[in-house]
Amino acid sequence: AEIHHHQFTVQETPVNRLCKTHNIITVNGQFPGPTLEVRNGDTLVIKVLNSGRYNITIHWHGIRQIRSQWADGPEYVTQCPIKPGGTYTYRFTIEDQEGTLWWHAHSRWLRATVYGALIIHPKLGSPYPFQNPKQEIPILLGEWWNRDPISVQRQTVFTGAAPNVSDAYTINGQPGDLYPCSNKGTVRFTVDSGETILLRIINAALNQQLFFAVANHRFTVVATDALYTRPFTTSILMLGPGQTTDVLLTTDQTPGHYYMAARAYATAQNAPFDNTTTTAILKYRTAKTGVPSRPTMPRLPAYNDTATVTAFTSQFRSPFKVEVPTVIDENLFFTIGLGLVNCTPGPRCQGPNNTRFAASMNNVSFVLPRRKRNSLLQAYYQNVPGVYTTDFPTVPPVQFNYTGNVPRGLWQPVYGTKLHKMKFGSRVQIVLQDTAIVTTEDHPIHLHGYHFYVVGQGFGNFNPRRDPARFNLIDPPQRNTIDVPVGGWAVIRFVADNPGVWLMHCHIDSHLMWGLATSIIVENGVGELQTVAPPPPDLPPC
Ligand code: C2O
Repeated sequence: AEIHHHQFTVQETPVNRLCKTHNIITVNGQFPGPTLEVRNGDTLVIKVLNSGRYNITIHWHGIRQIRSQWADGPEYVTQCPIKPGGTYTYRFTIEDQEGTLWWHAHSRWLRATVYGALIIHPKLGSPYPFQNPKQEIPILLGEWWNRDPISVQRQTVFTGAAPNVSDAYTINGQPGDLYPCSNKGTVRFTVDSGETILLRIINAALNQQLFFAVANHRFTVVATDALYTRPFTTSILMLGPGQTTDVLLTTDQTPGHYYMAARAYATAQNAPFDNTTTTAILKYRTAKTGVPSRPTMPRLPAYNDTATVTAFTSQFRSPFKVEVPTVIDENLFFTIGLGLVNCTPGPRCQGPNNTRFAASMNNVSFVLPRRKRNSLLQAYYQNVPGVYTTDFPTVPPVQFNYTGNVPRGLWQPVYGTKLHKMKFGSRVQIVLQDTAIVTTEDHPIHLHGYHFYVVGQGFGNFNPRRDPARFNLIDPPQRNTIDVPVGGWAVIRFVADNPGVWLMHCHIDSHLMWGLATSIIVENGVGELQTVAPPPPDLPPC
């Protein structure tokens, strides 16, 4: 195994998009940031130097961080932020993971421009469990704002109103030629006829689920969230923010130019969204001069086509029989969704009828311990009282028809830094139940430090008597981010074998900022390998 050293300099960099030049926050002046390529078993040592003007942290999305809990990255959860002028070195080893992950800022909305791919190849000498591709292409889907994302975030959080929608979607940082002034920057991939290409697709958008397709070509899905899947073919992909999907594509079409395109899958009722389309071009090298210069456009589903999404997600399986916990020690039920709290009219109270948005899990709107001078992991490790409580409800405090016609006043979320603590080795089941308090919506729920089995999902209210009979306990897919169906539920299972403090949250950043999160403490087991590692000496002070 190798050790890879990198330096990430966080800095302001001028970039030109949509006819204007802005300064954005980048890593090493690159947007998207550098692609990290490693092999399973390798170690990464990344020194981050913050030369920008905002506090920042970097998260390695999907890395389990076994014995490197302090390198996970969410600010105020596993570390305090790296201040301007400060540095911090993230050190971690890839343990039994292969495929596509990514890294991103985990500090306010800085991940709008601070993100990149993290590609994990098999160990030297081990093949892929599928046909060896001729080319591998990372595809990072993102969002672009003409305004500074931090000011868009402030407006969203402080006014409690719905966020301004983005001005463009992007593929590898470029909107593509359907947007103004974007023709020159459009990403073009040159391919030969008859080759197999591995596309490593990452949804790095802040707030939007996206459909993705390539005109005239079908995909064979082979992995998701750096876990192999049983291969299946499809012409449409849907990725929630945070998710990755690896697909094979064979260049078996008439040599020519084909668009790859992404557009919103939007499920919240009456909420504005960016309905534009980002494109890149797949260009056959052998395309004759004289082929139509306008590439063929793929057919993307309508923005609200949940049937296509369900048909797609229901095909995911593990490629082999897996060991799903069948006896459950921690049986948890978390409602997820938006809520409204009353407020006095004013600039910070811009939600409907004198309210502001406060998203919650089990009616708790999660608050980071920003002013407590400790991250949650530090407070846990050093036994500092008063930073958090461990009374996160394991079932909803009020039961009601979650996805029915819910009176808005029924649930006023409470603010708190409430965590749930569990024993090392617990076999955990979490039912994630969407609610209709403001609107039903599809939520991509991400758990740090783990991947989990998705044993079931469906629409309406989870029925504990009927639904478990249909769980897949043989070959369910594994993920680190589950897109819970709009107005529905998903059930995940895992063994709590990684001690630490792990954030669980909606990967739609406006929802995260409104509190759609909690954290889980997994206590130490026996012996060093089952114990939280000591903090590194350069851990940033608060
Ligand atoms: Cu992709 Cu909490 O992160």
